[in-house]
This record gives sequence, C-alpha cells and structure tokens, in this order.
Amino acid sequence: MKKILVTGGAGFIGSNFINYVLEKRKDVFIVNLDKLTYAGNLKNLTGIEGNSNYTFVKGDIVNDELISYIFQKYEISHVINFAAESHVDRSILGSEIFFRTNVLGTNVLLENAKRFHVEKFIQISTDEVYGSLGPEGQFEETTPLQPNSPYAASKAAADLMALAFYHTYQVPVIITRCSNNYGPFQFPEKLIPLMIINSLNDKKLPVYGDGLNVRDWIYVNDHNKAVDVVLEKGKVGEVYNIGANTEKPNIEIVKIILDQTGKTEDLIEYVKDRLGHDRRYAINSFKIKNELGWQAEQSFEDAIRNTVNWFVENEKWWKEIISGEYQNYYKLQYSSRS
Ligand code: NAD
Ligand code: DAU
Repeated sequence: MKKILVTGGAGFIGSNFINYVLEKRKDVFIVNLDKLTYAGNLKNLTGIEGNSNYTFVKGDIVNDELISYIFQKYEISHVINFAAESHVDRSILGSEIFFRTNVLGTNVLLENAKRFHVEKFIQISTDEVYGSLGPEGQFEETTPLQPNSPYAASKAAADLMALAFYHTYQVPVIITRCSNNYGPFQFPEKLIPLMIINSLNDKKLPVYGDGLNVRDWIYVNDHNKAVDVVLEKGKVGEVYNIGANTEKPNIEIVKIILDQTGKTEDLIEYVKDRLGHDRRYAINSFKIKNELGWQAEQSFEDAIRNTVNWFVENEKWWKEIISGEYQNYYKLQYSSRS
C-alpha cells in the first residue's frame, strides 16, 4: 500500500486528483495536508470524506515539525506536492507568500523526504517556468528556465531545489510541468471559471490587453491521469512536460464561454494588461507519451462544455465562495472532531 502525502489537496487540481485516485485505486492511503488558504475548499472533497483510505490534516508545508510528525505517524512512502500559491496576478501584488510557500515549503518537504527515505517525491510544477514563447516553437523539458512572474520564479526555484536534492542526496524526485488546467472546482479567480461565472451573472468579462495572449489548455482529469502514471512509472531525476496540444488565444476562450452560456459579446470588456504578461505558452509532451504511454484523452470541445455545465449545475459551490461561506466548512465539520 502506498502511503501518499498529498499537499494542497483542497485546491483545484489536488482535490480533483484525490477524488480521481480514490475512486480508481484501493491500494493507496492518502494524507491530504492543506493550509486552507483562500484557495483551499474542503467542499471539493465531500464525496470521499468517509473513505477509510483518506485523512485530512490542516497545516502548512513550511511547518517542519508538523511535516516530520506526519511522515512518522503515517509512514509516508510517497509525496505529491501540489501545495502552492498559484495565481499570477496575486504574485504581482505581493511576492513574499509565494516565496514562502512555493520555495521554503517545498524545501521543508524535500528535507523530510530525505530524512525519512521516501520512495518517490513528485513536484507539481508548471510550464510557466520556461517563460514566454514567440509565435513559433514549444517548451521542451530541455528548454532553459526563464520565469517572468514572481509566481513562475518561485516555482522555478522550487524545481531547482528539488533537482538539487536528487543530485546531491539521491532523493527520488520527479518534476511534472503542466500547461493551463480547467475543470470542476477551479477557484473563480482564474480565466475560465471567472468568465463562466461573470457571464452567468451578466457581469463584464475583463480581457487583459488585446486578448491575443495564448495559453495551452488541458482538462484537469487528463492532468490527474498523467500524475498517476508518473507515480507508477515515472523515472526518478526526470522532468515530464504534460499538455494536450490545445493552444487558444484568450479572446477565443471568452467567446466560446459566451456562446455556451447564451450571452452576447457586449459583455466583453478589454482592460489594462497584466504586468509582464507572458505572450504564449505551448507545451511539447512527447516525452511522457513516448516513455510512459500517457496522452490527453479529452477533446477541448467536450471538456469545456462539461466545465460550463458543471458551473451551471453547481451554483451553490461558487456562490459559497463569493459569499465566503466555504471557509466555515472546516470549523463545522472538523474542529469538533479533534
Ligand atoms: P490552487 O491555488 O487551486 O490550490 C492550492 C492549494 O494549496 C490550496 O488548497 C491551498 O490551501 C493550498 N496551500 C497553499 N499554501 C499552502 C501551504 N503553505 N501549506 C499547505 N497548503 C497550502 O492551485 P491549483 O491550481 O490546484 O494548482 C496546484 C499546483 O499545480 C500548484 O503547485 C500549481 O503551481 C500547479 N499548476 C497549476 C496549473 C493550473 O493551471 N492551475 C497548471 C500547472 C501547474
Ligand atoms: O500555465 C500554467 C499556469 O496557468 C499555472 O501554473 C498557474 O497556476 C495558473 O494560474 C495559470 O496561469 P495563467 O496566468 O496562465 O492563468 P490565468 O487563468 O490567470 O490567466 C489565463 C490567461 O487569461 C492569461 O493570459 C491572463 C488572461 N486573463 C486572466 C484573468 C484572470 C484575462 O484576460 N482576464 C482575467 O480576468
């Protein structure tokens, strides 16, 4: 039985991953450690709350004492580090918490992985560490790191620290670098959920700059499947890019959402550009396909329709975020148990 410490498991991708893995496998025990920042929402995990292969711990990855306790208590054999401050706009407003969580937090996890001899440590990184592309080309695993935002720089620093722990101490590190995710439970500060919710509420859709910045989109469950494959078959010391070959300019995404919510383009509002806005991302995931046999399965057309429908059907989920009520759930469900 793999005893996996999943950090950041109450966030968007981490919660989708836990839901997916516990549905699929009986041979894992998952400890979900999450600080429950604004981005953490235990309502994403209500489906697996009573699962005997799962437990939740509220805490900070920077807390060395807590991490060391968790490694010992649960005899952790694998780590998947999703925990991060993840939003670029927030990192432009203030970088310190990004450095603290993304760099120092990863370092604390690596130190404990070394101390307790884990079998695998998967660092969930991002394509943003490679910087910005011109009109041609793709990011490959060998592309030099050239992060531009404080968020991207903090993720790149964590990647380098993880690789250093592999080279120096043989900590069995693997790094994954995925492109832009979308799907259920994504916090409504990110492009796709923000545009869906604003559109449903007949509010303006703020498009940065000329709307022609390009992102390479992947459905979150395809990302989950890739991480699961890396957990099983990934080679330590390696970096794997993950993507679905779905490049789209932002304005195209916005127009698709308006079409699917039955609203008109009058709602589009071009606003001041993001500072240092990366122009284009495109990820080459040939390596993971060739070496581990993974490739994305969902078409963009189906998955964006499913995502819009999910937000239409789960109004309560996002209304509780807007009202702030989602943050009471931990107090109500968990504090009384301890
Ligand atoms: P998210 O912001 O939705 O979730 C982050 C989670 O981490 C939250 O539950 C939060 O409470 C938790 N967290 C934050 N600081 C913590 C700390 N100090 N200790 C413990 N928990 C903490 O992020 P996401 O979009 O799910 O991204 C997850 C990971 O995937 C991140 O590492 C991100 O860099 C990476 N990534 C994201 C995308 C994307 O498109 N969203 C793409 C590629 C890679
Ligand atoms: O590429 C992977 C990265 O994707 C992850 O590492 C990050 O955690 C994740 O946040 C995401 O970063 P982006 O900056 O690409 O995502 P975001 O949803 O913030 O923005 C996507 C694009 O849409 C980007 O070009 C900025 C633009 N945008 C965004 C918002 C929130 C707008 O035009 N208007 C908006 O209101």
